[in-house]
Amino acid sequence: MIRFDNVTKTYMRGQHPAVENLDIEFTRGEFVFLVGASGSGKSTMMRMVLKETGPTRGTVYVAGKDLSRIPSWKVPALRRDIGMVFQDFRLLPSKTAYQNIEFALAVIGTPRKVVRRLVPEMLEMVGLEDKGKRLPHELSGGEQQRVAIARAYVNRPSILLADEPTGNLDPSTAEGILDLLGEINERGTTVVMATHDHSAVDRMRRRVVEMVGGQVVRDQEGGRYESETPVSVISGNLPDDSAHREEHPLDAAEYREPAERTERTEPEDDSAADVLEEELIDERDARLERDEAAFDEEDEDEEDRR
Ligand SMILES: Nc1ncnc2c1ncn2[C@@H]1O[C@H](COP(=O)(O)OP(=O)(O)OP(=O)(O)O)[C@@H](O)[C@H]1O
Ligand SMILES: [Mg+2]
Repeated sequence: MIRFDNVTKTYMRGQHPAVENLDIEFTRGEFVFLVGASGSGKSTMMRMVLKETGPTRGTVYVAGKDLSRIPSWKVPALRRDIGMVFQDFRLLPSKTAYQNIEFALAVIGTPRKVVRRLVPEMLEMVGLEDKGKRLPHELSGGEQQRVAIARAYVNRPSILLADEPTGNLDPSTAEGILDLLGEINERGTTVVMATHDHSAVDRMRRRVVEMVGGQVVRDQEGGRYESETPVSVISGNLPDDSAHREEHPLDAAEYREPAERTERTEPEDDSAADVLEEELIDERDARLERDEAAFDEEDEDEEDRR
């Protein structure tokens, strides 16, 4: 779904790369946490997936396509299939919750009938069916983030990127937002979330990719926020901090070196996988068209009755 092939990004000549020799793949349907100190390259990875910035070296693939080969006129189509949520919500301040979601559909020319059906559906999904008429400043932070998620998801993207979506929220509101992202993931969207939120990562126990200075230092299925030192049972090389061990019982089998994953997920010839990705996208488009056609028919029936 998303693949970084030996990607290095240097914003300014002479500067340490924001991302260096990155080799990693996020597959369809995964929920991935990107963790790491401020400046470790998390947002840079997301920006490259959106083609907001390009790699200095290497290749970024989304849905099997090399982004550097996507012409600029096709970039909107790429972004339509990628929802994005930010820490500061980024809603349009003079538009209501309803209009903010509607806007995401209008800009891609969605028929009005479909908009009238989808927006209330989205408001309901995020639990704001009674707050569609509110302006962003009349909503709490958590509610604003729900609107932002509804707007990011309304086009049913295959990928949702969330850059510290709970950064401005209190713990219980953050949990609600996380559950919503979990639900979106369960509906089939690949979710990549950059976060400093320990409890979010520890609660979900999904794949955790940890960055240090632009490089992946940990890639772990079912991980926690804090890294657990790998243990070699054979060498008897157990860590000396037994208190830490009791708190986080180590499971050596659960831990994988980043290189190991890279080997497993990078077949030499992935053209078959690319074709599959394209088919899945075509399938999604066909489904949307069918939905719209069915809806138009419903409307015609209604007109006939009148
Ligand atoms: N537009 C830019 N121009 C120059 N340098 C940049 C730019 N954007 C980011 N950087 C640098 O790239 C590095 C990685 O930044 P990035 O924003 O990806 O980090 P991050 O992991 O998202 O950090 P945070 O957790 O604070 O959001 C940092 O050293 C940063 O200063
Ligand atoms: Mg960031």
